[in-house]
Amino acid sequence: MNHLFDVAEAAATYASKSPQEILKFAFEHFGDDLWVSFSGAEDVVLLDMAWKLNKQVKVFTLDTGRLHPETYRFIEQVRDHYSIAIDILTPEREPLEAMVKEKGLFSFYRDGHGECCGIRKIAPLRRKLSTVKAWATGQRRDQSPGTRSQVATMEIDSAFSTPEHTLYKFNPLAQMTSEEVWGYIRMLELPYNSLHERGFISIGCEPCTRPVLPNQHEREGRWWWEEATQKECGLHAGNLIAKA
Ligand code: ADX
Ligand code: SF4
Repeated sequence: MNHLFDVAEAAATYASKSPQEILKFAFEHFGDDLWVSFSGAEDVVLLDMAWKLNKQVKVFTLDTGRLHPETYRFIEQVRDHYSIAIDILTPEREPLEAMVKEKGLFSFYRDGHGECCGIRKIAPLRRKLSTVKAWATGQRRDQSPGTRSQVATMEIDSAFSTPEHTLYKFNPLAQMTSEEVWGYIRMLELPYNSLHERGFISIGCEPCTRPVLPNQHEREGRWWWEEATQKECGLHAGNLIAKA
């Protein structure tokens, strides 16, 4: 397996290639060391494409403990549909219990989402990513004009690489639009999260996600009580670093 390639050069070469071609490139270079991160929403498209290229595709989900019941059901449905194992990552007990004991179950409405996302999502993600060479996400440019308009098809993960460990990050859906994603889901009759039938577009944790009104941007349904420019939970902190 050859991990050595110039990422900036490859990103430029693949800038207008299809998600499948980007995934193929990722599998060629990383094989079973490539992990797909699945949120239980419309990124089922990424999983479907990856699975069609590699039936043994490795998948993980961050179970924050606060997902909607519909999302848990959907993750299970996807597991059965594709006959794949999904690594369900849970937060560490000690910091979680300490935070909830001190601040209650809804501290993010008062203090912002940083601390809770840090414990429920970022720490488990960091733990996972320290053991892998590359990951693929369902991030797209059209998901957030504020933070994702520059998302590259592939990059070195500036948030989770360390001096000892270079982590590669692939965003094969970067250039897909929401319309194209939904065209794919409908055309191929993929399973989808039933929350989408109730006005949810972008889906995260239950207390921090709400449906949007017609013509509202999907990101407005996430952490709606906070400043629009802050709407990254840290999973893709590189997007904020890149803008700074
Ligand atoms: S978030 O950073 O705001 O939560 P978003 O919901 O837009 O992210 O999803 C973008 C991509 O991040 C998903 O396609 C997926 O690859 C990854 N992701 C988001 N949430 C999770 C999760 N709970 N588990 C695994 N991956 C996730
Ligand atoms: Fe906590 Fe909300 Fe972040 Fe989920 S999205 S980890 S509930 S702050």
